[in-house]
Amino acid sequence: MSALLENPTARVRWLAAPSSPAWLEQAIARPDLVLIDHAHCERKAAGVALQLMFRYPSDEQLGALLSALAREELEHFEQVLALLQRREVPLRPLAAPAYGSSLMAQVRKGEPQRMLDSFLVAGLIEARSHERMALLAAHSPDPDLRELYGELLASEARHFGLYWVLCEQRFGREVTVERLEQLALAEVEALSGELAQDDLVRMHSVGVTPAADSARQSGRR
Ligand SMILES: [Fe+2]
Ligand SMILES: [Fe+2]
Repeated sequence: MSALLENPTARVRWLAAPSSPAWLEQAIARPDLVLIDHAHCERKAAGVALQLMFRYPSDEQLGALLSALAREELEHFEQVLALLQRREVPLRPLAAPAYGSSLMAQVRKGEPQRMLDSFLVAGLIEARSHERMALLAAHSPDPDLRELYGELLASEARHFGLYWVLCEQRFGREVTVERLEQLALAEVEALSGELAQDDLVRMHSVGVTPAADSARQSGRR
C-alpha cells in the first residue's frame, strides 16, 4: 500500500444524506448483480484516475498520486473478479444507473473550475462507494461478501481523502468546502427516487434517506 495514499483528512463530511434501508435490502437480495456492478465500478475508478493523469500531464504530484490510486483500483478489480470466478458468476456488461452521468454533468467546463469539480465528483463517488460497502460489510448474510467489502473499506476511505487533499492544496479549504456542499446536494439528488425494477439495483442505484428524515430516525431534532 502506498504511503502516498494515506492522509489524515478522511473525516471531512462528504455525503449530504445516508443511503436508505431500501437500497440495502435491494442490494442484499441481488448479491451477484451488485458484485458484477462492483467489478465495473473498480475498473471505472481506475479509469477516472488515468483520465485525470492524462488531462493534467505535467502535474507531477498529481501524476504520482493518481498512478498509485489507479493501480490500487485495478487490484480491487482483480479481487472482485476472483470472487466472481470462484462463485462461477460471469462478468457481463450491465446498464449503468444515471448516477455517474448526472454527476459528470455538474462539472464546469472552464479551468480551473473543471479540475476542482472533477476531483470533488470523483471523491463523492468514492465516499458513496465507501458508505455502501460498509453497509454490505456489516449486513450481507454471505461471509465471503462481508469479508471482501470489509477488506476494501479502508482503501476507499483513503481514496476520498486523497481527492480532498488534491482540492485543498490547489484551491484552499474555503473554496473546496463551498463547492463540495453544492456537489454533495447534487449527489443526493442523483440518488433520489425509487428503483423501477429489482434487477436495476447497482452500487450507485437510487436510495437515499433525506437528511431531515435520518436526523429524526436517529433521535436528533
Ligand atoms: Fe476501489
Ligand atoms: Fe476507490
